[in-house]
Amino acid sequence: MSAARPVVLLAGRGHPRVQERVEAEFEAVSIESADAGLMDAETRSRIRGIAAATAISAEFIDSLPNLEVIANFGVGYDAVDAAHAAKRNVMVTNTPDVLSDEVADTTVGLLLNTLREFPKAEAYLRAGRWATDGAYPLTSLTLRGRTVGIFGLGRIGLAIARRLEAFGLPVHYHTRTKRSDVAYPWHANLIDLASAVDTLIVVVPGGAATEKAVNSDILGALGPQGVLISVGRGSTIDESALIAALTDRTIAAAGLDVFAHEPNVPQALMDLPNTCLLPHVASASVSTRNGMADLVVDNLGAWLAGRPAITAVPECAGFNRKPS
Ligand code: NAP
Ligand code: 8YV
Repeated sequence: MSAARPVVLLAGRGHPRVQERVEAEFEAVSIESADAGLMDAETRSRIRGIAAATAISAEFIDSLPNLEVIANFGVGYDAVDAAHAAKRNVMVTNTPDVLSDEVADTTVGLLLNTLREFPKAEAYLRAGRWATDGAYPLTSLTLRGRTVGIFGLGRIGLAIARRLEAFGLPVHYHTRTKRSDVAYPWHANLIDLASAVDTLIVVVPGGAATEKAVNSDILGALGPQGVLISVGRGSTIDESALIAALTDRTIAAAGLDVFAHEPNVPQALMDLPNTCLLPHVASASVSTRNGMADLVVDNLGAWLAGRPAITAVPECAGFNRKPS
């Protein structure tokens, strides 16, 4: 008789490839949101792994007595209570590296679209206005001559920096710890970074440590030619302060892929002429999302088979297994 397959919970509306592979390789249980009330006690006691495409709270973790691993779909795992999981020796994994180049490419595209208004210029053409009204107006903003500050020079931040270097732009950065492997000027705090640059790219993780870190002081320091690009988490930006700064031209423009209350985007941001807005698509190509999906399921498979997790989050690195 073959051994019973581990039970894995598909939590949230996840990626189809995660669902297909979990159904093929484990015994799958699905729920739309991570709410313990959606399962009976017997089902909860059988769950050993979670493929997470939704928030996972401490309370939910505690409702699963035999939980061993939470594999998060995404490199950002601010929606998973990893500190609590680690206290319970529950492994948490994420999807680093496989999406860094895609997200960096999107960030550069968003920056150019924000400055040079390409989406608006295309809409102008498609509306027939080139023929009726003449050439699209010259853009007041350009990438040329800019100095870029990167808030969060991690895997993705560095991939963005390398691209912007190739565009001939000086790059500065702020992280809590100065990197020893790059020559870009480091600023010990965000306000110093914002004062030194006119283009601020935000790509730090979400969570309490970065909550509303980009506030009216930072936007004021960026100045009237200032452009904010946000691809990390919406919680890092004080959206009310940003709307005020864009309205009174404290800064010139903003390009945003992430928002505080997704999928809801403040109407004021949509109404402003100096914003370029994307619906959280930085990693959203078929190939990159498939790479993320495979890493989710491979992490589950490794941990549930007694092997090391492939990409443990830092909170859980201390109890990851050693490769044999
Ligand atoms: P990472 O390699 O861990 O880099 C994070 C960087 O942020 C590090 O340089 C870190 O340096 C810095 N940092 C963290 N907390 C900070 C703080 N409180 N103050 C200043 N700097 C801080 O992560 P990554 O792979 O580059 O991903 C970054 C984030 O991008 C993810 O967490 C996710 O939220 C977001 N993301 C968004 C999308 C999208 O679709 N828009 C896609 C992928 C990722 P120190 O530790 O030295 O401070
Ligand atoms: C995904 C992301 O869009 O990896 C992340 O942190 O924000 C994105 O790649 C998200 O995780 C899944 O919807």
